[in-house]
Amino acid sequence: MKAIVYKKYGTPEVLRIEEIEKPVPGDDEVLIRIHAVEATKADCELRSFSFAVKWFWLPLRVAMGMTKPKKQVLGGYFAGEVESVGKDVSKFKQGDQVFGTTGLRFGAYAEYANLPTSYTIVPKPHNMSFEEAAAVPLGGLNALHFLRKANIQNGEKVLINGAGGSIGTFGVQIARAMGAEVTAVDCSIKEEMLRRIGADHFFDYAREDFTQSGQTYDVIFNMVARSSYSSCVNSLNPGGRYLMGNPRVSDMIRSVLTSRFTDKTAVFIFAGETEEELLALKDLIEAGKIKSIVDKIYAPEQAAEAHHRVETEQRLGVVVISMAKS
Ligand SMILES: NC(=O)c1ccc[n+]([C@@H]2O[C@H](COP(=O)([O-])OP(=O)(O)OC[C@H]3O[C@@H](n4cnc5c(N)ncnc54)[C@H](OP(=O)(O)O)[C@@H]3O)[C@@H](O)[C@H]2O)c1
Repeated sequence: MKAIVYKKYGTPEVLRIEEIEKPVPGDDEVLIRIHAVEATKADCELRSFSFAVKWFWLPLRVAMGMTKPKKQVLGGYFAGEVESVGKDVSKFKQGDQVFGTTGLRFGAYAEYANLPTSYTIVPKPHNMSFEEAAAVPLGGLNALHFLRKANIQNGEKVLINGAGGSIGTFGVQIARAMGAEVTAVDCSIKEEMLRRIGADHFFDYAREDFTQSGQTYDVIFNMVARSSYSSCVNSLNPGGRYLMGNPRVSDMIRSVLTSRFTDKTAVFIFAGETEEELLALKDLIEAGKIKSIVDKIYAPEQAAEAHHRVETEQRLGVVVISMAKS
């Protein structure tokens, strides 16, 4: 089968198309024909092995391969169709249209991916294309997981920093669906799109620091690495919640003190990316409450271009690779 492979860490040009062996599902596994896969910031970070937050560099490098990548096919968030199932599988059948995550197996930058049925794989929303559906799991699962932790009440003010990216575009829509008044922070070219999907207010981070505006919020959901911890916490109302998607070690330590000794709460978590959450997103999508924002769709042969767009250009939403295109 065809796959986008990387055999060394480096620039997007290390991504190559190769023929690799098509997997065969084990007894409790499902073989999925991948139609579309998101090209994520995390894929780019793993490819280059360069991260905005540094504390996990060494343990991750040991896990992923010291001198070269152990897993040569990236891709964690996909939409596709069940090709075949193992003999013990009753949950899926050939032809089911699904979307989901490959967890630490990665491997969705390929024509087929083989996954245990215990992984987060659910029926694709009926009102989305494969490309639109592949753009949901990363952003949707992370945004939903974090925003549920904030227990948002109707009319509360929620600020999303980094609102125009994969997680942020879902954060804006989910916070709005939870009844919040939403402020989005990103660069100016994303303002129109963010207002269209539900942002009531907007800050252009290149022109204005939202923490210096005098405005305060009940919830700040922050995707931007190296933000000032104290400025964000000081921009919270009494009882406010600070959700950190990308904390430094010092932010994690300070968050324990904030939560214990003040009336504010600071939270850092890794989203579990569960089946229940993906089904909740499917319901919201089918009810017309949220949708994915697809920036651009690339063919597998254009994988390097797709990574460049994720890394260096000001994309509007999610970059998708269509494995069906070539
Ligand atoms: N904790 C977890 O479980 C978890 C899970 C997944 C991801 N993450 C982390 O969450 C972060 C966001 O992920 P993502 O996939 O949504 O990334 P993304 O798609 O790259 O989105 C980040 C957004 O932030 C914008 N931005 C950059 N600098 C900014 C600034 N100073 N102020 C405001 N906005 C700014 C970017 O705009 P430009 O186009 O202008 O750069 C982009 O629109 C990543 O760093 C990732 O590592 C955490």
